[in-house]
Amino acid sequence: MQLHLTSGGVLVAGVDGINAAETVLIAQRKYADLKHRQSQIGLTIPEAFVHGIRHIGYLSNVDAIAELIDNSIQAYSQRVDLVFGYDGSVSLKKPSQPAVVDDGHGMAPEMLRLAMMWGGTHRENDRAGLGRYGYGLPSSAVSIGRRFTIVSKVAGGQLFAVTLDLDALDAGKYRNSAGDVALPSARRARLPAFINEYLRRTFPEGWHSGTIVVIEKLDRLDWATTLGIRINLVRHFGVTYHKLAKETAIHVDSHRVLPIDPLFLTPECEFFLLDEDRAQSLDRIDIKVRNPAAPGQEGQISLRYAWLPPSFGAIDKTRDAVGLNANARFPILKDYHGLIFSRNGRIIDVQSRVPWTVFINNDRYIRVEVEFSASLDEMFGVTTTKQQVSVSTAVWHALREAGLPKAIEHLRGKVRSAKLERRSVGGQRQDPTGLEEISKRLVQVPSHRPVRTVPLFTRDGVSLDLRPSDRHPLFNGTASKIETSRALRALVGQIINRASSSGGRRRSDYECLLEDWSDVLTRTGITDAPQILGSTDE
Ligand SMILES: Nc1ncnc2c1ncn2[C@@H]1O[C@H](COP(=O)(O)OP(=O)(O)O)[C@@H](O)[C@H]1O
Ligand SMILES: [Mg+2]
Repeated sequence: MQLHLTSGGVLVAGVDGINAAETVLIAQRKYADLKHRQSQIGLTIPEAFVHGIRHIGYLSNVDAIAELIDNSIQAYSQRVDLVFGYDGSVSLKKPSQPAVVDDGHGMAPEMLRLAMMWGGTHRENDRAGLGRYGYGLPSSAVSIGRRFTIVSKVAGGQLFAVTLDLDALDAGKYRNSAGDVALPSARRARLPAFINEYLRRTFPEGWHSGTIVVIEKLDRLDWATTLGIRINLVRHFGVTYHKLAKETAIHVDSHRVLPIDPLFLTPECEFFLLDEDRAQSLDRIDIKVRNPAAPGQEGQISLRYAWLPPSFGAIDKTRDAVGLNANARFPILKDYHGLIFSRNGRIIDVQSRVPWTVFINNDRYIRVEVEFSASLDEMFGVTTTKQQVSVSTAVWHALREAGLPKAIEHLRGKVRSAKLERRSVGGQRQDPTGLEEISKRLVQVPSHRPVRTVPLFTRDGVSLDLRPSDRHPLFNGTASKIETSRALRALVGQIINRASSSGGRRRSDYECLLEDWSDVLTRTGITDAPQILGSTDE
């Protein structure tokens, strides 16, 4: 292929490709001309940039919401809530407007517009807290929906808001007469009804200052139901922010996020006292490291270690933690499997592959956390979204010197011998999932009494909808406590049977249903039922 100069002085492909190439070049020149007239050529084309950024960065909605929680924690909030608004357009069970609401210091109106912009930050390159790039707020919001609004109020001030709507952006509505994209400045605002109602309930003394980020036009939501979101987030945030829980109380859909130490070494954290099993720690190791990219700042790395007894994730300690015999700790063992990285007290990544070893399933029972200060960001290869590390050779070297590989082997040895010991004590097991036994126990009805089979529901003759049957003692007020409990056992037993015989989405739907029941029953005070339900916690 030949290359030659066109009359315009541009290098293009030779004879065979000249038309195609020239067409492209002409189109390119036209486009550049237009953009030049529009925006004096900045570093990015705003529409393209925003659309691109929606798809890079956040691994999931959970990580995106965490970015907003980070901001609220950094704004000295005592409390931050994920609140859901519903317009019923999708389904009443699926939110259409998730909002992160805090009671922090808020933002002055002139900061609001900057907070909405990429790169707008008052803490550029700050290493003391969680944010430093000025990308978190807008990137996380557009990774979920096509429109977001930031509403804020400083103490003694008024409510102001800014909105970015990607459909309006695409339609050129933000372009001024010179053709530049100019975001509108903050305007006095009123809150949506669901947020007003939430604020009234949550801050009876008044909400004096804070920030609210509402996301709408949710086209990138990976959740199916509010219940699913809540269960997932309460656990995820419980771990992510367990060291910061004292600073800011996080709530998801009015449920308090309780701190979960993934090493199970903190007595105040969830699941520490779940049963008699305890995590065993090794001594914590602290090391100091210099980051050549941030001279003058010495960084700190702390290594925490623990190993867990083999029955740690099991309900019935004589059987393995599989299926319904897995307790509430088990999902944490599974999800936080490998080296857990924590930056300035906030968990940001877990890696099961390190230069000298790979964590296999059995290694779920060894726990290692690498806590580092943000002054070492470059060395840990922290990404702008703070969800990943890409550890440099220098840091791996420092960790090796600090004895990490040896400690991992030591922990593996402890787990191995605990397992051998357990095997020599325990006998052969049947029914490894425990499903059979649990369902038998649940649907058992004493045989000396005739079984009354009054159906729990009737079908409406016209609409064919199901409704609770007034003939059933459970609904007509005649049920004794024993009858109630028996009916619930049978019902829960059926749901568990269904759950265990289905897979994937269906299974998790059944599990959500059980969690729902568990909540309702706890509130109504029927005490033995939650205990049964507890066994489904997988
Ligand atoms: N919840 C909040 N309360 C008060 N100020 C906030 C809040 N969220 C964001 N801000 C302000 O908006 C700026 C941009 O936030 P963000 O895009 O997440 O970047 P970063 O956190 O890296 O600074 C912050 O630097 C801060 O000044
Ligand atoms: Mg931020």
